[in-house]
Amino acid sequence: MSVEVGELKRRAGERAVEYVESGMVVGLGHGSTAIFAVRRIAELLKAGELEDVLGVPCSVRVRDEALALGIPLTTLNEHPVVDLTIDGADEVDPALNLIKGVGGALLREKIVAQASLREIIVVDESKLSPALGTRWPVPVEVIPFGWRTQAAYLESLGAHPVLRVDGDGSPFQTDQGNLILDCHFGPIADPGEVAARLDARAGIVGHGLFLGLATDVVIAGPGGERHLTRNPQADGIGQDAV
Ligand code: A5P
Repeated sequence: MSVEVGELKRRAGERAVEYVESGMVVGLGHGSTAIFAVRRIAELLKAGELEDVLGVPCSVRVRDEALALGIPLTTLNEHPVVDLTIDGADEVDPALNLIKGVGGALLREKIVAQASLREIIVVDESKLSPALGTRWPVPVEVIPFGWRTQAAYLESLGAHPVLRVDGDGSPFQTDQGNLILDCHFGPIADPGEVAARLDARAGIVGHGLFLGLATDVVIAGPGGERHLTRNPQADGIGQDAV
């Protein structure tokens, strides 16, 4: 029997919440998979099974949803170290590198991920990819000033950049008031090289290549959940059943 993608997202998101403990500062990811984790955390807090959890939302939208669900929130300025973050991804490669940001929250997501001791990525198995860029463009967040010069720069790197627009055709604006250029590269042979070029460019304030940031990936498929982990000491990938 086929399992709906929405059901797989729910299973991945909720499974990761098993790693949340009372007293933790928890990063709350953005997207249709991570929201299941946010809702589960709210349920456990309400039931008294979790206590003293403080959430750090990765977007204005998640902040609003978490507040509506009654999750106490904090900021990175109050709590610069996040114990654990649960977030989604658009593509996951065999080394647990990611493309993120199709939902538009890439910059805050990366700031929160870099502040996190543990970054658990939750996906359904359709997100697995042999090479980043195979299925999705890389979202690149640029400030509005001179954004066309960034489009030209991105083309020089081999991408086909497309300005993201809302349903009414107006440019999509991030939570920071910036623009997104969705960069179609095709399969990327050396994501580290592309990331370095994006990081080096003034006016590009973020991009969706998340390299070496995921410590864990929980993957839900019709046959159950798999849990891949990165061992920072050995830089190897381990696997265990969740
Ligand atoms: C948000 O900016 C993204 O990075 C999401 O985490 C990513 O797009 C995954 O979203 P879904 O869980 O909705 O597929």
